[in-house]
Amino acid sequence: NSQFEQRKRDHIRIALDPRSQTDGQNGLDSINLVHEALPEMDFKEVDISTSFVFQKQTILLSSPIFISSMTAGHEKGREINQALARLSDRHQILMGVGSQRRELEDSNAAEEWMAVRKQAPNAKLIGNIGIAQLIHTPIDKVQRLIESTEAVGLFVHLNPLQEALQPEGDRDFRKGLQAIENLVKTVQIPVIVKEVGCGFSTLTLKRLQDAGVFAVDVSGKGGTHWGRVEGYRSEESDLLYKVAQTFSNWGVSTLQSMLNAKEAQVNYQLWASGGVRNGLEVAKLCALGASQVGIAKPFLEAALAGDEALENLLQKLELELKIAMFCTGSKTLKDLQTKWVMS
Ligand code: FNR
Repeated sequence: NSQFEQRKRDHIRIALDPRSQTDGQNGLDSINLVHEALPEMDFKEVDISTSFVFQKQTILLSSPIFISSMTAGHEKGREINQALARLSDRHQILMGVGSQRRELEDSNAAEEWMAVRKQAPNAKLIGNIGIAQLIHTPIDKVQRLIESTEAVGLFVHLNPLQEALQPEGDRDFRKGLQAIENLVKTVQIPVIVKEVGCGFSTLTLKRLQDAGVFAVDVSGKGGTHWGRVEGYRSEESDLLYKVAQTFSNWGVSTLQSMLNAKEAQVNYQLWASGGVRNGLEVAKLCALGASQVGIAKPFLEAALAGDEALENLLQKLELELKIAMFCTGSKTLKDLQTKWVMS
């Protein structure tokens, strides 16, 4: 399926282009953590570990930082996924795999995960399916996606802007909420609904509550922007290129999405992603109520550079998170909650 391969290669190349990034728009510069000049603690006491608990099963994680869903089902993605899965395995952090759409059409595509599992038997993988595919897929087929990755959870991504700007996009989102509801009822693992960089309104977050989801990853605006990525896949003279420019700043910022969730008073876990670029931003999102914080593009860049770059990135993110906790007098992630103010 060469069109598929080409699309996935384009996505990686274009996502890394600075023009695809909505830098500075995640909103997090407009809040500050509350500085504590006299933290009655030893820096060594800062504990960033957390856990992922579902139906009495607990997975211990070394930090709330997770690798956001990126790639699957093509040659170049294989090495990237193996490197990311090894990081997840070594450090016990969660890792979202990219859309498993290919596996729905070609069961051979699932062998990718056997190779990943050989190198990363203890990686904590989360499967991935798009809402436009989920609506038309029988549940037993979705079940197979979960089994092939030995996933601890399943992401369902919502990406209306991306599908609308993709020449080959799947634009029928009817009965989406119902499909999520059915999925939650039938699978035995947590279902996490996410955007891909355009965030969530208060109303949508409320509607998802009725579907019984385990968590929503707000994936707001501020980092990789899929309107831009799809736009740059077209020629400058193409209609979709021009239309994509109109929508180049579309979406709800990551900060605003988190504030919307607070307003919606949701009963599921909140996860956050979208333009998170350092450990201080991870800390801010934890203070705003995020249980897990995802990062995509920086992990992609590091994976392309190799294992050492991945180690260095995670080490930097964790140190920044710990310093933010020390300087707010927070020994645990729980202590950090609500320690933010508008700046
Ligand atoms: C993504 N993202 C994504 N999300 C998803 O749910 N399924 C997918 O297949 C993909 N594919 C994908 C490919 C590439 C190359 C990138 C960079 C991203 C979206 C990703 O998980 C995340 O929501 C956004 O990229 C925002 O995070 P960053 O990049 O700003 O940290």
